[in-house]
Amino acid sequence: MVDVSHASLNYGDLNDARSGRVPVGAVLGSDAAGVVVQAAADGTGPAVGARVVALTSGAFAERVAVDVGALAEVPKVLDLAKAVALPVAGVAALRSLRAAGLEADKRVLVTGASGGVGKFAVQLAARAGAHVIASVGSTARGEGLADFGADEVLIGLDGLEQPVDVVIDSVGGPQLVAAWSLLAPGGSVQSVGWTSGEPAVFPPYATVGPTKSLMSFVIEGHVGPDLAVLTELAAEGALTVEIGWQGSWDHFAEAAEALRGRRVSGKAVLKMSRSERHAPTLPPQG
Ligand SMILES: NC(=O)c1ccc[n+]([C@@H]2O[C@H](COP(=O)([O-])OP(=O)(O)OC[C@H]3O[C@@H](n4cnc5c(N)ncnc54)[C@H](OP(=O)(O)O)[C@@H]3O)[C@@H](O)[C@H]2O)c1
Repeated sequence: MVDVSHASLNYGDLNDARSGRVPVGAVLGSDAAGVVVQAAADGTGPAVGARVVALTSGAFAERVAVDVGALAEVPKVLDLAKAVALPVAGVAALRSLRAAGLEADKRVLVTGASGGVGKFAVQLAARAGAHVIASVGSTARGEGLADFGADEVLIGLDGLEQPVDVVIDSVGGPQLVAAWSLLAPGGSVQSVGWTSGEPAVFPPYATVGPTKSLMSFVIEGHVGPDLAVLTELAAEGALTVEIGWQGSWDHFAEAAEALRGRRVSGKAVLKMSRSERHAPTLPPQG
């Protein structure tokens, strides 16, 4: 049982809120960090008082019961506010790059590179020795990505002509179709998300030719070991956690509007304020 001090807001949390799949009154949220207040009954997992981060349903809560396989202890030097940004976005970046069979010198295109998944994917791919091409929506949204290891920062896919070996795509729609056409034989597109909300229409014969793959992606199974890798990298300073919006849970609507409005660079982090907890208000759909 974890006493939650911080949660992070993911694009997927907002999708869940409006999906109709989640029953009214259910506790949303996926990323939680805090302190263990009750250890697992079978003796596994961290002890009472341990600082932990978890990928769990119901993260937007005062306390959440977490499977011990879904959490990692947070190194002393890492703030919980930073650790909490890692679960969904960091694990998606790490696992999608792994699924693509990332190797040094591969050309990797990361779309939506200004966002949560994108900023971690750029850094992890660069760390693996890849040539990283970061695609963003505007010049301002591309700021800082070169420092994170991006060799090229593009608006959309403007000017990209050389083939790429891997695409980590969180935008979907026409950009996915364009990225597919740039994919080298043997390469793969990892379809992580679809923030464009637009259909992807492939021209006839676009999928006929030398073997390359479009792979669906979802986070499944125990994430504890990958969370431990990510928290260690962040603690060592080898992975920067950029927090583009940070504030109290009481300002949830402001965080949600900023995320949907493409105004968060990196991650949005909520500090859970114990005294005034109440249900958040979602911004109007749009
Ligand atoms: N499959 C999984 O397990 C998994 C895990 C994590 C995330 N996801 C999905 O991955 C996607 C990204 O998640 P995230 O948490 O990184 O979101 P995020 O932090 O909001 O970042 C998304 C990025 O997408 C771009 N974007 C937003 N709206 C767009 C639009 N209409 N057209 C083109 N680009 C747009 C924005 O970049 P610019 O402003 O620079 O254009 C933004 O920085 C979401 O669809 C999420 O549901 C899936």
